Amino acid sequence: MERTYLMVKPDGVQRNLIGEIVSRFEKKGFTLVGAKLMIVSKELAETHYGEHKERPFFGELVNFITSGPVFAMVWEGENVISTARTMMGSTNPAEAAPGTIRGDYGVQVSMNVIHGSDSPASAEREISLFFHEQELNNYKKEV
Ligand code: CMP
Repeated sequence: MERTYLMVKPDGVQRNLIGEIVSRFEKKGFTLVGAKLMIVSKELAETHYGEHKERPFFGELVNFITSGPVFAMVWEGENVISTARTMMGSTNPAEAAPGTIRGDYGVQVSMNVIHGSDSPASAEREISLFFHEQELNNYKKEV
């Protein structure tokens, strides 16, 4: 079964969107296997966003993601990586379709409410960056 890393960013936490976002993925039918409210260190932020190191917005990105608590999550389900990306909407909230998380709640590309892994390789990498194996739960849904 596929797993992905999703993170409510500091703007989403500040705006009380954790519950709404968790609820969308629960109602869709995905399984939450790990979650925690945490402050991202500068070192973790720079590693997580390493592929953007040369971009002009890298400094802003790291400053923002370390500016307050994030809600880090691991979700499980069939095709969860790509389906979660569809549910999140385009990276730039101004271009995200209504009904998607960023389309409904975001305005700026730098403060776009949520992050989600973009491939199986990034999902594996990001899950292991943010969670220890013991923090992830294996359980079967009864319904
Ligand atoms: P995320 O999915 O977390 O991955 C990289 C992030 O970089 C992206 O969401 C955006 O929040 C951010 N980003 C992308 N383009 C820009 C930009 N032009 N200015 C500031 N931030 C950006």
